Amino acid sequence: MKIVKTAYEVRNIVNEWRKKGLSVGFVPTMGYLHEGHQSLIEKAVKENDRVVVSVFVNPMQFGENEDFDSYPRDIDRDSEICEKAGCSVIFNPDISEMYGEYFSSFVNMNTLPQRLCGKSRPIHFKGVCTVVTKLFNIVCPDRAYFGQKDAQQLAIIKRMVSDLNFNINIIGCPIVREEDGLAKSSRNTYLNAEERKAAVVLSRSLKIGKSLMENGEKSAEKIISAVKEEINKEKLAKIDYIEIVDMNRLQPVNEINCQVLVAIAVYIGKTRLIDNFIM
Ligand code: PAF
Repeated sequence: MKIVKTAYEVRNIVNEWRKKGLSVGFVPTMGYLHEGHQSLIEKAVKENDRVVVSVFVNPMQFGENEDFDSYPRDIDRDSEICEKAGCSVIFNPDISEMYGEYFSSFVNMNTLPQRLCGKSRPIHFKGVCTVVTKLFNIVCPDRAYFGQKDAQQLAIIKRMVSDLNFNINIIGCPIVREEDGLAKSSRNTYLNAEERKAAVVLSRSLKIGKSLMENGEKSAEKIISAVKEEINKEKLAKIDYIEIVDMNRLQPVNEINCQVLVAIAVYIGKTRLIDNFIM
């Protein structure tokens, strides 16, 4: 496995693979990899001849008061995980490689980024769409793998790829959870012991919503209030949002009569965590 720092090197390597007729899978990440990322890489390895993983903490997707500086980084640990999972190349660029001095082009999207996480993170998805576009243009993969935990991100990337005619198959992969149900996330490392216990309230409250739906409840309001009631029992938790939206437009629904995304964002102490399920 190679670790490369420049777009030029990635392009050359991928061009050589292409000459041999090899297929290319791509897993974009911000590093500090966990079992969730590992499952994406392993799936990519199964479905492609070669796999590129990018490790880049993208400053453009963090708001001013967000955790860009404190976001955990450990390229040595990431390399070990990638190598074990069967990755061929890690692309680990510096900020200056991705955003040159005169950088001024952005990819933005109407509607889909406006609700859910986009409400409290207004510039986030512009940063995600811009960096993912750049990474797609550098790696030119056949398939790219994204986790379902960031359900809005996955929906936005799928829309962008369709709207802008990228020739890339976007593959969504299931959420990987800790034994007690907490969705794996690099940000879980911010939690102290007490907060870590409290964080289980996200998956526990969603379970309650899911079971209501499985038992025939169709009112979004009732499901949301049951989820809310459970979260409010946890004193360290503060709700950012609880929403039930349709899968295509990410617009709120009143009645559950199509495929919906039930998504929540909750602060546990200072750490903002997200979780969701699709039904
Ligand atoms: O999901 C992430 O880790 C990031 O948003 C991504 C897709 C790597 C873009 O920086």
